[in-house]
Amino acid sequence: MRREKNASLLRHNTFGIDVRCTEFIEYESVEELRSLLAPPPHSEGLRNILHIGAGSNLLFCGNYDGSVLHSRIRSVERVGESDEEVWLRAGGGIAFDDLIAHCLGQGLHGMENLSHIPGEVGASAVQNIGAYGAEAKDFILRVEGVWLASGETFSMENEACEYAYRQSIFKQALKGKAAITHVTFRLSKTFRPRLEYGGIRQALEERGFSEGSLTAAQLRQTIIGIREEKLPDPAVLGNAGSFFMNPVVSKELFLQIQAHYPEAPHYATGDGRVKVPAAWLIEQSGWKGRAMGRAAVHDRQPLVLVNTGDATGRDILNLCEAVRRSVDERFGISLQPEVNII
Ligand code: EPU
Repeated sequence: MRREKNASLLRHNTFGIDVRCTEFIEYESVEELRSLLAPPPHSEGLRNILHIGAGSNLLFCGNYDGSVLHSRIRSVERVGESDEEVWLRAGGGIAFDDLIAHCLGQGLHGMENLSHIPGEVGASAVQNIGAYGAEAKDFILRVEGVWLASGETFSMENEACEYAYRQSIFKQALKGKAAITHVTFRLSKTFRPRLEYGGIRQALEERGFSEGSLTAAQLRQTIIGIREEKLPDPAVLGNAGSFFMNPVVSKELFLQIQAHYPEAPHYATGDGRVKVPAAWLIEQSGWKGRAMGRAAVHDRQPLVLVNTGDATGRDILNLCEAVRRSVDERFGISLQPEVNII
């Protein structure tokens, strides 16, 4: 276990915000985590706990008055198997993309489209990360963790996690109540590429890969290439990926928008409502590539807000509010941040 008082969080958030916390604690095992969380007098008692992953979906708006926890549980084990599937139990502290690379090395498939998403396994089960037509929930079998209040362990099956687009029970009713220690994923022994999402087939063609003989490694390489082209590298330009969720609006509202903007991109959600890309709404509102102080809307993907150098969390938040106001005034849509604002 590593504990540091008055620790810098600069290297623990991809926005690159320079803030500190009262104490930063990294644990290596469930037992270590439980010993930290056991109620006094069995432990010294931690105050105001914030559990983070790689900090790739966080915006700190000031110093954090409390204990920040981070997992270094990085084991991967096979815990079950059928003719078609293998179940892998992965530690919450593994980088999600390292897990995908591990799966490919073992001939286990399904998660190729989630390649190169920053963040760790524990957070993937909170956030239900998604990209290119796949979501973490499609592969999660079970989530295990520890209740922060008691130090007791729990295990929840997929259905109990209330997964939806970028949502789970861990962001709603159980927000701030649980630390996820392990996630068990169902992987397929057969490679069945998912290529329907706009742009994948074209990107494969550009790379000279043919659909008929496509390998999992080629698909992974292509997805990584698309992300690198579109999304800024946090090591170069601080950011937390998509800052906003894609809004889902009523059909009536969408028809009003379409009357003014016949070219408006949209996807049916299946429940009679319509998902409109936030990137398009932000671009139409004139914000693509525009800066405000030390924060800016990215010039290739307007869904991403970036730190142009030494921005504070407030700078980013001010830009977020300005963008939200513009989109609301123009379209009557209230964009919701996807990033966790602390
Ligand atoms: N668009 C514009 N202008 C732009 C860019 C995009 O109008 O400059 C419109 C286009 O109509 C485009 C549409 O937005 O067709 C969708 O763009 P894209 O396919 O790039 O995806 P997105 O909806 O903007 C979502 C996820 C990303 C994920 C991609 C790919 C959310 C909030 N974001 O973005 O996730 O990588 O799809 O699947 O759902 C993240 O969560 O951090 C993230 C990067």
